[in-house]
Amino acid sequence: MIKVITYGTFDTFHYGHFFLLERAKALGTHLTVCISTDEFNKNQKRKIAKLNFSERVRIIKSLNFVDHIYPEKSWDQKVLDIKNFEINIFAIGDDWKGKFDFLKSYCDVIYLPRTNDVSSTLIRGY
Ligand code: CTP
Repeated sequence: MIKVITYGTFDTFHYGHFFLLERAKALGTHLTVCISTDEFNKNQKRKIAKLNFSERVRIIKSLNFVDHIYPEKSWDQKVLDIKNFEINIFAIGDDWKGKFDFLKSYCDVIYLPRTNDVSSTLIRGY
């Protein structure tokens, strides 16, 4: 099994999220998606999502290629998650390019090209 992990808020789920998750899964055989909790969004990411955590979880759970969903509660949990879940590949959009290179001591790190012209911020309008 090749295990991939990714992180995000995935608010107002859109095709940019779908294409990212689809490509993340294609890097391996098992995909864990860590979804930011409402508290983490509010207190650390300074982001107020339109959909709450359980709504965002419900949407991503419905994707048949997603194998595991886990809450993202802090910036610092990634190393622990990678170790605990025996992850081989950390994948995320290239808006984060370089930011997670420190994880290369634990697994492969892959920045996937972002889909143009769509974002939660655009859809939410704030
Ligand atoms: N993503 C992507 N293409 C987009 C938007 C997002 O590939 N057009 C990816 C991000 O790079 C990230 C994941 O989807 O790996 C989750 O991103 P998130 O920040 O939740 O979505 P955004 O639409 O970027 O949200 P915001 O506008 O609030 O920053």
